[in-house]
Amino acid sequence: MNHVMSGKVVFLTGASSGIGEALAREYARQGAILALAARRTQLLEKIKKDCESLGARVEIFSCDVVVEGDVRRTVADINKKLGPIDVVIANAGVSGSFKVGRFNTELSAKIIDVNVKGLLYTIGAVLPEMLKRNTGTVVGISSLASYISFPQSYVYCASKSAVSAILQGLRLELSESNIQVTTICPGYIRTDMTASNQFTMPFLMNVDVAAQRIVRAIARGADVYDFPRRMRWIIRVLSLLPQKMIALPFRGGRDVKASSNK
Ligand SMILES: NC(=O)c1ccc[n+]([C@@H]2O[C@H](COP(=O)([O-])OP(=O)(O)OC[C@H]3O[C@@H](n4cnc5c(N)ncnc54)[C@H](OP(=O)(O)O)[C@@H]3O)[C@@H](O)[C@H]2O)c1
Repeated sequence: MNHVMSGKVVFLTGASSGIGEALAREYARQGAILALAARRTQLLEKIKKDCESLGARVEIFSCDVVVEGDVRRTVADINKKLGPIDVVIANAGVSGSFKVGRFNTELSAKIIDVNVKGLLYTIGAVLPEMLKRNTGTVVGISSLASYISFPQSYVYCASKSAVSAILQGLRLELSESNIQVTTICPGYIRTDMTASNQFTMPFLMNVDVAAQRIVRAIARGADVYDFPRRMRWIIRVLSLLPQKMIALPFRGGRDVKASSNK
């Protein structure tokens, strides 16, 4: 077994399913000490057992990332129970889309709250200690959707553009420090979030493969990690097309109901 993360404290938000859960198992295999946070603690209990059977030390935390006090309390608890955080991965997120005729401000606010404010609260709670120690790794899970906006899901795209912008600025400001800031931009990954998508998802990737790639990108100190690369190229090409052509596949055929994964 590869124990490269032995003794390192990894704090993961959104660890109860999907990418977060797969990252937890991957870091457990690497010998990390895990602080797993989410709202559904029953799911976290099971993941904790699995990670412990892989040899990891694990603590779980009930935490709603939209509630800043919750996040601060969680980080204080982690410091007390496990010691200073070496790697924080702001992964918690929700998606959602709606047709313009059913413009949904409630869902829009939720997407911005969880994806943007949640990430800010998470990073804001962890950074002071990292700055004091002048060491640590800050990771945000953005998306290839941060590079382009689509009909119906533009609020999600906007939330991920904000995530990428926040992390880029933070990285530049911390460039003289010993703190690494990594932006992860996945394409389509098979998780609960994508399970209800009623359209063909190009290059849909297995979540464990995605987690392995993410962990490798963080370990090599990547600034931005876009994957799968073929999907990144498609988005590059789409960005060069006239706007009306991007919208074409959405005319009529793709009827996405107002939906959110949670
Ligand atoms: N799947 C993809 O194709 C894809 C592609 C690009 C980027 N991403 C990003 O990857 C991240 C993980 O998504 P996923 O695909 O793994 O989806 P998922 O399986 O639905 O997991 C989402 C996680 O976020 C947590 N979460 C949601 N709202 C929360 C809140 N208010 N407070 C705390 N935790 C909250 C959930 O935990 P609880 O409900 O238990 O709190 C859950 O653990 C998201 O940021 C997503 O935008 C996903």
